[in-house]
Order: sequence, then structure tokens, then C-alpha cells
Amino acid sequence: MVGGIVRGASDPAIVSCDVSGAKILAVANQKGGVGKTTTAVNVAAYLALGVRVLLVDLDPQANATSSLGLDPNGVELSTYDALIGQAPLGAVVVGSGRSQLDLAPASRALAGAQVELVDLPDRERRLKNALRELESVKQYDVVIVDTPPSLGILTLNALVAADLLLAPVQCEYLALEGVAQLMETIELVRATLNPRLELLGMLMTMYDPRTRLSPQVVDEVRRHFPDRTFQTVIPRSVRLSEAPSYGKPVLEYEPTSRGASAYADLAQELIERGLLRR
Ligand SMILES: Nc1ncnc2c1ncn2[C@@H]1O[C@H](COP(=O)(O)OP(=O)(O)OP(=O)(O)O)[C@@H](O)[C@H]1O
Ligand SMILES: [Mg+2]
Repeated sequence: MVGGIVRGASDPAIVSCDVSGAKILAVANQKGGVGKTTTAVNVAAYLALGVRVLLVDLDPQANATSSLGLDPNGVELSTYDALIGQAPLGAVVVGSGRSQLDLAPASRALAGAQVELVDLPDRERRLKNALRELESVKQYDVVIVDTPPSLGILTLNALVAADLLLAPVQCEYLALEGVAQLMETIELVRATLNPRLELLGMLMTMYDPRTRLSPQVVDEVRRHFPDRTFQTVIPRSVRLSEAPSYGKPVLEYEPTSRGASAYADLAQELIERGLLRR
């Protein structure tokens, strides 16, 4: 079944896939609620307008899964099964109901994986190996991995599998402190498990121009990481926070909103920064 069948989100069909041509982008920051999932889902949706995208939900909260309109309690197989080795990732992947956008959904069971993985061989390379096994059937152009708010084994699996890292940083007081811890982790992963890992950029999120703090935080992060901060800044936008409750990316929910155009800009900037293989 080359190419697979992609049906509606309410009737997801198993699709087969291959990632030989894909770059793998992890969206990570150990801090909670900074916009990781919003970024993963909306970037995936915009990129899928032009290229073939696989979104991998590696968070037991399964917010990326529900943001695309799938009920995490209703999925038959999830990334849990792929990590534990109970099913190949190809059997976990479903169509999202959108052209060129597939999803490896999460389920609550993933919370257990954090404990179960400890006793399994190659515990930090389970996602990497699962993605490798997808190679024979279908090609994606990019794989985006959404991660939980911790630097535990699930996030580590994402960082070990990834070529590139996008780190959302909320425009708030002490934003740089969290970034320092993330940087240490990146260096550690690079020195040990994945020398390929490259920080594509930090993304300033929930920018509120009415406050003094937001521009100050952006300036500060840009000063510290001039080449590693995206030009695109994501504004605080009610539309972005409403869209997940309708199971839709913002480009379907409110494509003319400021939040939507910011994520469209970000998708473009990611391509300019080398997200796609040439
Ligand atoms: N730019 C934004 N403007 C307004 N609300 C936003 C924006 N980005 C995200 N949100 C909202 O803030 C909350 C946290 O965002 P999100 O779930 O994307 O963060 P996260 O980093 O994935 O969280 P977690 O660490 O729990 O996985 C959500 O309710 C989301 O809808
Ligand atoms: Mg999240």
C-alpha cells in the first residue's frame, strides 16, 4: 500500500510510511505551557499545504492528538505501542483527515512508557529506531515531534531521533533561565547520544505588545542568541487558544487571525532555515 489511505479523522485508517527523505524536528522545552503543542500542530498544518508531514505526539497529555480532532481515548494504537515495541510505528500512524498530514497519536498509556522504558534496551533510541523502520514504504518530507514538559525519557527519545530542535520560549519574566537548562541538555545529548542535533531556533511565543515585558524578553533572548532566535514572533492570540477545542489547527479555524499569519510566517522561515532536505 504505497502512499497509504488517508481518511477522515473520525475513521482513521492505518497508513504505511517512510522517512528516508524526512528531516526530523523536535519541538521541546522542559517548561510547561510555553506553546510547544500549539507550535507543533500549527507548523505541521501549514507545512502540509506544500509538503508531506508526519506529526508524532510523544506527550501523555496527547494535546497534539486532540488538537487535530482525534480522541486520544479512542485510538487503537499509539506512540506508546511503538516505543515499547508492541507495534511498528507504521501501524500507529493514521491519517489526520487532511491532505499530506499524518499523525502518530499519543494515548494516556504513554505515561507508563516513562517507567517501562527504563528496563528496555536502547531506551533513548526507541523513537529513532521506530522511525528508521518506517523507511520502506512512503516518504515524508518532514517529521515533527511534540514532547512533554520535562527532560525525561520521552523528550530524550525525541532529541535523540531529531536532526533539528525548535524551542518555544514564552515571553515572560526569567525566560532565559529555562533556556539555560535546555541548552545544557542539548549539549549533553550532542556529546553523547546524538551529535547531529542542531538548535534550529528559539521561538518567542505569547508576545503581548501592550506589556513592557514582552519586547524586553524578546530583546534579551535575541541578545544572547542572535542567530538562534526566529525572526517570527508568535503573538498572544485568543484564536490560537480556541482552535484546539474545535480539533482544528488555526488555519482551519481562523485563517485570517494574527496567530494564523504568524504560524504561516514561521513555516516559511523554517523552510528558509533549512527544514527541508534539498
Ligand atoms: N500564542 C498564543 N496565544 C494564546 N494562547 C496560546 C498561545 N500559544 C499557546 N496558547 C495556549 O496556552 C496553553 C499552553 O499552550 P501549549 O499547550 O501549546 O503549550 P505546551 O508547551 O505544549 O504545554 P505543555 O508543556 O503542557 O505540553 C494552551 O491552552 C494554548 O491554547
Ligand atoms: Mg504540549
